[in-house]
Amino acid sequence: MSATLPHRYYHETEIYSYECNHVFRSHWWLIGIEAALAAPGDYLALNLMKWPLVIIRDQAGDLRGFYNLCRHRAGPLVLDGTGHCRDFVCRYHGWRYACSGELLKAPGFEADAVGDPAQMGLLPVRVQSWNGLVFVCLDDAAPDLETWLGDIPSIAARFDTTDGMQFDGEARKSARANWKTYGDNSCEGYHVGMVHRALGSSMQRESVRIDNYANGEFVGFDVSYSAGDDDSRAGKGFWIYKFPGLLLHFADYAFNAETVLPLAADSIEIRRWFWSNADKAAAQGIDNATIRPNSEQVMDEDVSICELVQRNLASGIYPGGRLSATQEPGTLYFQQLVRAALGDVLEAEEGGA
Ligand code: FES
Ligand SMILES: [Fe+2]
Repeated sequence: MSATLPHRYYHETEIYSYECNHVFRSHWWLIGIEAALAAPGDYLALNLMKWPLVIIRDQAGDLRGFYNLCRHRAGPLVLDGTGHCRDFVCRYHGWRYACSGELLKAPGFEADAVGDPAQMGLLPVRVQSWNGLVFVCLDDAAPDLETWLGDIPSIAARFDTTDGMQFDGEARKSARANWKTYGDNSCEGYHVGMVHRALGSSMQRESVRIDNYANGEFVGFDVSYSAGDDDSRAGKGFWIYKFPGLLLHFADYAFNAETVLPLAADSIEIRRWFWSNADKAAAQGIDNATIRPNSEQVMDEDVSICELVQRNLASGIYPGGRLSATQEPGTLYFQQLVRAALGDVLEAEEGGA
């Protein structure tokens, strides 16, 4: 018998702060796509949890990441969003930095007040890309992106890469839910028949194989798996929920990547990027113009149910529930990963309960 996580881990600010400082920093976060940073000087800025970041394509063509924060008095280099610049000019008093992070100019400042300019460059963050997706990590000691992805690249190798597909745009959605509420939901197919009626009627849940992958800490849904002898299904697909907040949906004819950004204890922002191959979709009788709307409908249905669950978790009434090893093996694994990540906090609480 498996008990669910205690409700307070889904809505209390202290837990979210602990996660920011002890969990999120050591992971890689999908924050954008390479196509949006194609030319030298193209940048993308955003707040990742509490950290302001800017990623830029430098003159040599490499991606560079920095905290979006001036060394003078913490002014912003750029506003959130995408843009293009040759150098960074702080929006507060105009200090100028190269795309490499080097301090170039502190207008009107006495040289001895700046100190050693080599020590006053922008603060770097790690940035790496894979399959057209741009990731950042704030912990210098964390493994590199390839190690973090684990078995994902070998699964992705069964499908087309993003550079062989048409880019169909980006969707953003805010949800009043904790990232774990959304994670719990994303790791199981038990809810499909109730929550996704259109999707549920078009797929057979028993023909989906769900596995937990320790190498990369993710749950994989092999939707081309057939439980019977007849393995003649034309299409193949694979869905992934990677701890803590990366979703990848591979199909013969399409791909989308989704990042779940925890903004607060009860708030996430979901960003999702879509690609498709119209010819391959047509070969399976699918109009690729329908792929993104259908996918967004499923996401909307998930967000709606998660917001209602979140409200109930935050009520303080929920005494804790049960998880099924056959219906919810992925959610069981996800909650194990949460328990491991929150180790000390949970142990102290549950040990004393
Ligand atoms: S804070 Fe950036 S120039 Fe003053
Ligand atoms: Fe769902």
